[in-house]
Amino acid sequence: MTKILMVCLGNICRSPLAEGILKSKLPQESFFVDSAGTGDYHVGDLPDKRSIKVAEKYGLDITNQRGRQFTVADFDAFDLIYVMDESNFKNVTKLARNDKDLKKVKMILDEIYPNQNYNVPDPYTGGIQGFESTYKMLDEACVQIAKKLLK
Ligand code: 4NP
Repeated sequence: MTKILMVCLGNICRSPLAEGILKSKLPQESFFVDSAGTGDYHVGDLPDKRSIKVAEKYGLDITNQRGRQFTVADFDAFDLIYVMDESNFKNVTKLARNDKDLKKVKMILDEIYPNQNYNVPDPYTGGIQGFESTYKMLDEACVQIAKKLLK
């Protein structure tokens, strides 16, 4: 079983979408996909209504998800940790205990634009259009991730 964790700040906008999208592209017998936030503001919360709506538009139901905070134990529980932006990257890597932990952490858009460190912008304070473009970026990245993992 390969285990993949998607991480953003609140675990209500970007990473729940990333979790839902990647799950839909991988067989669940061999892959476990989860998400978490570096912050604790939305622990136990449903994904943002706008993420739920955009996911629904593309045929994904993400309403089974609840917010949780990233912890150091996630380095043991997961093989790959995809972060959405540089701030998530800093917050996750500062908890790494060793090189093995560090090597698991990747910027998700590097899957499409290697070594560019592009951010998936936080859509939280904007309108629905931001969530639509978040979805498209994450879908493109997850196509690449799934391709690599299924090879
Ligand atoms: P996310 O967006 O990191 O994509 O889930 C955010 C959601 C909530 C907050 C920040 C970012 N917040 O500060 O409450």
